[in-house]
Amino acid sequence: SEDMCLHYQGLLLPKETHSLQSLEFAQAFKFTDDDVIAAVYPKSGTIWMQEILPLLLNGGDLTPIHTIPNWDRVPWLEEKRLACVVDKLPTPRAMVTHFPFRLMPPSFHTSKAKVIYVMRNPKDNLVSSYYFHQMAKFLEDPGTFDEFIDKFLDGKVLFGKWTDHVKSWKNAELGDRILFITYEEMCQDLPAALRQMSDFLGRNLSEDTIQKIAQHCTFKTMKTNRMSNFSLVPKQYMDSEKSPFLRKGVPGDCKNHFSSEQLARFTSAIRKDLQSESFTLP
Ligand code: PPS
Repeated sequence: SEDMCLHYQGLLLPKETHSLQSLEFAQAFKFTDDDVIAAVYPKSGTIWMQEILPLLLNGGDLTPIHTIPNWDRVPWLEEKRLACVVDKLPTPRAMVTHFPFRLMPPSFHTSKAKVIYVMRNPKDNLVSSYYFHQMAKFLEDPGTFDEFIDKFLDGKVLFGKWTDHVKSWKNAELGDRILFITYEEMCQDLPAALRQMSDFLGRNLSEDTIQKIAQHCTFKTMKTNRMSNFSLVPKQYMDSEKSPFLRKGVPGDCKNHFSSEQLARFTSAIRKDLQSESFTLP
């Protein structure tokens, strides 16, 4: 991790996509009241939100999702690309972030910018991350699955501990500026999830538009969208033959990976971290 990741405020971040300049840029970023940001722990549905947000905000116009790669279309607040595209973003601007709440810049707090926080079952999140580390050449080898469980539980993974991330946003007291949704709800009934998001964002979308957006945001459709399936990324950065970025796209894949001992160890560690919290896990 020493040469592939940088350390920032107690977190590990990939150097390929982050730099001290990009992090300073994020801290100096000026949020406006109509900005929308999806806050997502890595591997919990970020790319999905990069497909969904432009469509919800522009009434279902497919142009951006068919012409702009996801990383420029809905940029990460903390990544290098933001500085290159920020002036070209349509309004309302849509972004994503992997930051825990404590790293949100000052202007976020004084603005009325809205946040959609996407939470995913941590076991599935871990499995997705494990495969991602094998295919992303700019990340270190995750080791064995058992070793990776320990790293995940210790927070020695990208953007820190899963429980810290979730707690930070759950306790952020943003009132009606934040909507919590789960990856599992989105998988179970995407149109319903989209309606919730649309209402939260004050959009008035017809049922036809919601259905149309849902069709374009299914796992299957996204896999065929060159602007979203990472096929534009050269093989030296991501080896999709090892594991595609859009890998399985379902809840419950953890069942194919955790032994009963690992499951018990994982569950008790997560429970311990969340013992004084009142929210339930997906
Ligand atoms: S990253 O690298 O942090 O930006 O990754 P992220 O996009 O957060 O997470 C990737 C996982 O999200 C799944 N995904 C989807 N699932 C269902 N439906 C849709 N439309 C969808 N789009 C992305 C993706 O497949 C990764 O999960 P796994 O379990 O590995 O398949």
